[in-house]
Amino acid sequence: MLTRYAIILAAGKGTRMKSKLYKVLHPVCGKPMVQHVVDQISQLKIEKIVTVIGHGAEKVKEKIGEQTEYVLQAEQLGTGHAVMQAKDILSKASGTTLVVCGDTPLIKAETMEALFNHHEEKGASVTVLTAEADNPTGYGRIVRNDAGLVEKIVEHKDSTDEEKLISEINTGTYCFDNQALFQALNHVTNENAQGEYYLPDVIEILKNEGKVVTAFKTADFSETLGVNDRVALAEAEQIMKKRINEQHMRNGVTLVDPLSTYIGADVEIGSDTIIYPGTVLSGQTTIGSDCEIGPNSEIKDCKIGDATVIKHSVAHESQIGSHVNIGPFAHIRPLSHIHDKVKIGNFVEIKKADFGEGSKASHLSYIGDAEVGKDVNVGCGSITVNYDGKNKFLTKIEDGVFIGCNSNLIAPVQIGKGAYVAAGSTITEDVPGDALALARARQINKEDYVKNLDINK
Ligand code: UD1
Ligand code: CA
Repeated sequence: MLTRYAIILAAGKGTRMKSKLYKVLHPVCGKPMVQHVVDQISQLKIEKIVTVIGHGAEKVKEKIGEQTEYVLQAEQLGTGHAVMQAKDILSKASGTTLVVCGDTPLIKAETMEALFNHHEEKGASVTVLTAEADNPTGYGRIVRNDAGLVEKIVEHKDSTDEEKLISEINTGTYCFDNQALFQALNHVTNENAQGEYYLPDVIEILKNEGKVVTAFKTADFSETLGVNDRVALAEAEQIMKKRINEQHMRNGVTLVDPLSTYIGADVEIGSDTIIYPGTVLSGQTTIGSDCEIGPNSEIKDCKIGDATVIKHSVAHESQIGSHVNIGPFAHIRPLSHIHDKVKIGNFVEIKKADFGEGSKASHLSYIGDAEVGKDVNVGCGSITVNYDGKNKFLTKIEDGVFIGCNSNLIAPVQIGKGAYVAAGSTITEDVPGDALALARARQINKEDYVKNLDINK
């Protein structure tokens, strides 16, 4: 195997997206397009990956991070010009260079690997990955000679009516003999409809030099879809979504209705978990085995244990244990840690709280900035009063505490182990362990008061 390199083209603005967000950062199933490409390439044995950045350079670099090296294409003069920016890093190396566009998020590592292998087996100077498109409009067309050999690639905007009928398209993915690539790029001009230096022109240049030029046709056009506008973005989303959902189903996850189930590219789910319709799982979310999620739940950046049930609820940036029961209609806000066997019921909001094993808040509560021990019962309607208008304060509830319904715990405050808080209390001072705290007006009954009112006489 020759040494392998890769270049990702990600400097374009993406004018056709009509967006403030740089094209390659538009997410597909929650992950930027270019990140999909980087993640697939990273699965191969590649010596060096170079990303060409330009528009939104800093943002793109920040997203991808240390996974690749970067070169700047200050002015976007075309895909050939973009590759040329990697000259200082790669032009002297011998080996094979894969070039992939940052706007083809569906391309798979196995296809790139097959392309590399085909290229090396043929001893080619360039191998272009092609596909048959039902609607080739907008793509470069593969022009073959009578013997069926690739002659050149012609861009849609430069093509003749006859060439427009060609359905075999350039996917924008290629393997090059590295030195032949940089040598040929010197001869690419910008005399074309768009006044750009086209990378595909390298094919004709190498062909004319008598070098071996081949094509590798993939059977699956959908994998090579180039996203230039929001219509294609939605198409890519559909294809990726189907791919992700099928992967989970093959791994033993039940998706009751895959069409209405949205799972981000980096989500992990254990076997025998059931996902009900209307569920959106995103970010760095991990869900264990035997869970039931949904219907209609949104979970982002959460780590969830086994056999947990979450119905009609929202959870973000939190850790949720095993055998936990959440919902319906609960909201777990960031930085919460819900331990095993907890119950968080209807209309309960938890924020930045540690909620101990076996504890319950079954109805209508707000628990924010709190440390709740084990086996605590938070009665219906009880809340932590965590905010004085300027600052947030901590409420500590120790193990085995019983908070009666409709209590206000005015933070900072601590309820000692095993204590009881009487229903309707507004607690402003610490409660010692095992004590009963009553903090409400004593009830007075005025006998016959109503009967004696003027209006009732
Ligand atoms: C390109 C190909 C076309 C192919 C199609 C596949 C060229 C000239 N045409 O067309 O044959 O069928 O991809 O999807 O290569 N970029 C830069 N710098 C530039 C210009 C572009 O980095 O100066 C990057 C873009 O960010 C993008 C990629 O290169 O990720 C492709 O550019 P784009 O303008 O989308 O090319 P297409 O018109 O789609
Ligand atoms: Ca494109």
